[in-house]
Amino acid sequence: MSNPVSSPPRRQRILTMRGIGKHFGAVKALTDVEFSVSEGEVVALVGDNGAGKSTLVKILAGVHPPDAGSIEFDGEPVEIASPADSQELGIETIFQDLALCDNLDVVANLWLGRELVTGGGLDEVEMEQRTWTLLRELSAKIPSVRSPVAALSGGQRQTVAIARSLIGDPRVVILDEPTAALGVAQTAEVLNLIERLRERGHGVILISHNMADVLAVADRVVVLRLGRNNGVFNAVDVTSETLVAAITGATTRGKARPEPERPAEPAKDGRIIRMPQSTTRRPSNRSERGER
Ligand SMILES: Nc1ncnc2c1ncn2[C@@H]1O[C@H](COP(=O)(O)OP(=O)(O)O)[C@@H](O)[C@H]1O
Ligand SMILES: [Mg+2]
Repeated sequence: MSNPVSSPPRRQRILTMRGIGKHFGAVKALTDVEFSVSEGEVVALVGDNGAGKSTLVKILAGVHPPDAGSIEFDGEPVEIASPADSQELGIETIFQDLALCDNLDVVANLWLGRELVTGGGLDEVEMEQRTWTLLRELSAKIPSVRSPVAALSGGQRQTVAIARSLIGDPRVVILDEPTAALGVAQTAEVLNLIERLRERGHGVILISHNMADVLAVADRVVVLRLGRNNGVFNAVDVTSETLVAAITGATTRGKARPEPERPAEPAKDGRIIRMPQSTTRRPSNRSERGER
């Protein structure tokens, strides 16, 4: 029986991938993978090197077409045949290299290719104002939007790349190892930024090797191992040890997967399911990291 008082508001599903397969020659990079993300949800995608994380994300980014399976966006089946298709759907991917133009300033990087014009010239004032507004919304610490990004720290560069991805108001933002090259303080900044993305209602897909980061910021954790799903966990009640066990295969039950047909429900898209029905927030975590 559902209780309208205690049941939390269901977040709208944005993206669902079902039965995704992809091979490169003889290499099966992905087999029968299920994945989903909802509005205002941070889903961490974890797995060892070669587990298939980048391949899955590249399918969403329109870099590789899948060989098998289907993708739904806002409940409609879609094909993502190119990066342009992906962007048009509202998926922005921030790859590890960030692809910033070092010699250009923050404003120019944010608006590159989407510049605002007025009476034949660039509307620098408007672009700068909107840049500040966006950075304020993200509580981003960028000293000057007119310094070249080459002068910024690693965390600030990541911030600029994330801010740039928001210019087109995407539904889904994908971050590939955003803290891999960062120190402690800069990592905290980027994690804060990810929380702002969630507050703004974006669906966030976070690839990370760092279990502390994952547990600090994710709502759900999807584990891939050898190109297959190996568990979906609610971050609120999983330990780093459990995740590592799923990543390394200690919890594969040592068998080829006797995978039954799975209905496509949010709480059933993995093998090791310890998710309560509600997607709980972690107030302790959140207030600890607070408004820094
Ligand atoms: N373009 C490609 N050509 C051939 N093999 C690839 C290609 N991309 C990925 N692979 C292979 O697919 C598997 C999954 O790789 P990848 O998705 O990069 O894993 P992860 O990002 O989890 O480290 C690996 O065995 C990798 O070598
Ligand atoms: Mg990778």
